[in-house]
Amino acid sequence: MDWEQNVVQYRRDLHRIPETGFQEHKTHAYLWAHLEKLGLKPQRIGETGIIADIPGEGPGKHIAIRADIDGLPLPEETGLPFSSEHAGVMHACGHDGHMAIVLALADRLVAEKKFGGTVRIMFQAAEERPPGGALTLIDGGALEGIDEVYGLHLWAEDPVGTVGLKAGPMMANADQFTIRIKGVGGHGSQPESTKDAVLIAAQTVVNLQTIVSRRVRAFEPAVVTAGTIRGGHIFNIIAETAEVTGTVRTFSPETQALIETEIRRIAERTAALYDASAEVEYEKGYPVVINHEREAGAWAEKLRGLVEVNTPEPSMGGEDFAYYLQHKPGAFLFLGCGQEDGGSPPHHSPHFLINERALPLGVEVLYRAIQS
Ligand code: NI
Repeated sequence: MDWEQNVVQYRRDLHRIPETGFQEHKTHAYLWAHLEKLGLKPQRIGETGIIADIPGEGPGKHIAIRADIDGLPLPEETGLPFSSEHAGVMHACGHDGHMAIVLALADRLVAEKKFGGTVRIMFQAAEERPPGGALTLIDGGALEGIDEVYGLHLWAEDPVGTVGLKAGPMMANADQFTIRIKGVGGHGSQPESTKDAVLIAAQTVVNLQTIVSRRVRAFEPAVVTAGTIRGGHIFNIIAETAEVTGTVRTFSPETQALIETEIRRIAERTAALYDASAEVEYEKGYPVVINHEREAGAWAEKLRGLVEVNTPEPSMGGEDFAYYLQHKPGAFLFLGCGQEDGGSPPHHSPHFLINERALPLGVEVLYRAIQS
């Protein structure tokens, strides 16, 4: 079948031209041209999102299949012959593969027509960073008339030939916080006349680590990560201000609310302890990806004999596919794309690689999702 070779070519073409969220103009043009060549009528939603309907033969469900299209602001170091041609940007999460799989699926559906109802393929901008592109598509009407929605993510931790799929929570709620500490700056030799914002930032980061260890129930998954501390200008001046940013991952609204409250309390009171002040900005990100029981079960059943279907531990990563599943029944799965020798560089690494043998399998996995 042509699409089995083509899917690899599409992935390589797209790998060369990674673009970050909502800037995916070359990517958009590539996808658009392909869909038009297939005789479809693509529709643009937002800056770079695309939906296109593929009518089947006879009555049936209206099923949406989504691929995310953005790359990451990261210089590529894989040394691949089809490496990124865009300095400082890389497809380091596998979204090039997601697009290729869905393009090849479109090829196959148009050629074979062996399905009822309609398949709507959705190319979504900006998955990597909240607010994300899923809401843009949904607000633009992408889910209107849709009965079910499916998607997948290439997963380098798992070998080719396996998928991770289960009902219930698959990926975490992902929030973001910023703590702004305001002290009093001064000469590095005269701390007595200052309120040292760098010291307070350091204490705050340490104290934040007591939230998960001392406030969250042991059986409730949660992560609090302080990713950056910024403060000060030079070695001999005591900093007047400092900023701490971080991320929070949870699976329940109760734990999410608890952690937000604790971050505010700890930041404000740690600063107060040193007679300074702190302000907390807490931004809620993507909600939990929750697979619907019936659709996840049916899909797993259809994949029997094709791949090994494993029940994965939920990932603490976030995904804006969550929004589709808040509106429509459906499911999301992890498609194993690890290297044969097991040495797969992690997602978001400058060395990230996907095993291309996973690509034709991905087409078949989605093809089965739309079969009734
Ligand atoms: Ni991703």
